[in-house]
Amino acid sequence: MKPLLITIDGPSGAGKTTTTRLLADRLDYRYIDTGALYRGVALAAISKGLSPDDDTALEKLCSTLKMEFIPGEKGLRLISNGSDITDQIRTPEISMFASAVSARPVVRHFLLDLQRHLGRDKNAVFEGRDMGTVVFPDADVKFFLDASQKIRSLRRFEELKLVSPQSLEAVERDMRRRDKNDSTRNLAPLKPAEDAIRVDSTDLSIEAVVGRMLTVIENIIIR
Ligand code: DC
Repeated sequence: MKPLLITIDGPSGAGKTTTTRLLADRLDYRYIDTGALYRGVALAAISKGLSPDDDTALEKLCSTLKMEFIPGEKGLRLISNGSDITDQIRTPEISMFASAVSARPVVRHFLLDLQRHLGRDKNAVFEGRDMGTVVFPDADVKFFLDASQKIRSLRRFEELKLVSPQSLEAVERDMRRRDKNDSTRNLAPLKPAEDAIRVDSTDLSIEAVVGRMLTVIENIIIR
């Protein structure tokens, strides 16, 4: 099979991460969670006490930040300047800060180069918000994964129970705020690429979502 680069964009809670991992597993591809990179920048900025709109300080921070994914027992680990930050970046505070810094051009510019570098050999599934529109406009297959607001909040609520429990109301409020930030920012807002295939996961299991995606991929390869 010729090497493919596959992108999955969509709002939080649509099931991107689980889908991306399973799809990559089925294809024996790498998966790259680009939201983790924005979260890595957010964690570094918070630990230095930076404001999410201080472009000068963020630019300086990015110039000293070396992030890489390395394989671990339960999937890829994110290493930032030598420290494993995989488990620290999943809190509601980091989610909101990541959304704020992701609107800053200096941060997007820094991560654009890193993401394109990670995608240079293809054989990968990239998930994020602007994979199909900005980072990899020439990707071989693009998906836009969505689900109803209610189901997305419920999924995030269940996920957070394990790391940082919150009420369903708080999860829903944060999600609405973050969706608004991510889809109304000037630079690389969350939106489907014109040639993206839309999949709604509201009433579908992850297996069913991945099954649909594999069918699309097979059809594209045969064509
Ligand atoms: O997918 P996530 O929730 O881990 O992403 C965290 C934040 O990072 C999200 O609110 C928006 C931002 N992000 C982005 O702007 N572009 C991406 N490709 C991935 C994430």
